[in-house]
Amino acid sequence: MEERYLTIALGKGRLAKHAMKLFTEIGMPCTEMEDPDTRKLIFVNEEKKVRFFLAKGPDVPTYVEYGAADIGIVGEDTILEEGRNIYEVLDLGFGKCRMCICGPKSSEDLLKHREMIRVATKYPKIARDYFYNVKHQTVEIIKLNGSIELAPIVGLSEVICDIVETGTTLKENGLEVLETVCPLSARVVVNQVSMKMENKRITEIIRDLREAVKE
Ligand code: PRP
Repeated sequence: MEERYLTIALGKGRLAKHAMKLFTEIGMPCTEMEDPDTRKLIFVNEEKKVRFFLAKGPDVPTYVEYGAADIGIVGEDTILEEGRNIYEVLDLGFGKCRMCICGPKSSEDLLKHREMIRVATKYPKIARDYFYNVKHQTVEIIKLNGSIELAPIVGLSEVICDIVETGTTLKENGLEVLETVCPLSARVVVNQVSMKMENKRITEIIRDLREAVKE
């Protein structure tokens, strides 16, 4: 029987570049994807019978849950926010950052005294889980789609729940980390049916990736 193509979904951007380097290291390169001018979304490695595709980060767990992709590479933030039925099998150790509650120093006391505050975020589920289940603080969550740091500056919210990598965005906007929710990094996720049906090939890929990130 002819081998079926394994499909791997990559979150667009920095994560995808890093991931492709790793796949090259484990003998699954995809030269087509290296062309910076390409507008293609799907790339095939005929020899390995693998296809890679690029998707928006938050969509990667969706493709994997429905089996449109067997494997996905995505940030832990997205996995937590999307809450999909997928297996999370490996921490790749890159894309390291933290999910934090940030704001001006003056918001510190509002957090400490569990005041009813507004929290702006791209991650309403993570923010709700943190405030309601970890801190037991009632807050109003406001969903935004980007440039979250703006919210406390223009008076939309007292704090934000957002990713901090280098801390530069916060610093340049007079904000700081007030509390840390959790550490984050890039992860490998797998479709639950694929894990059974394609167990040998997928286990080998996970093993090779694990070895490659150890070095
Ligand atoms: C992310 C995040 C912060 C910034 C943190 O935004 O939301 O704004 O990076 O990085 P730093 O600590 O290194 O400054 P992203 O660039 O993904 O864009 P966004 O504002 O559209 O979310």
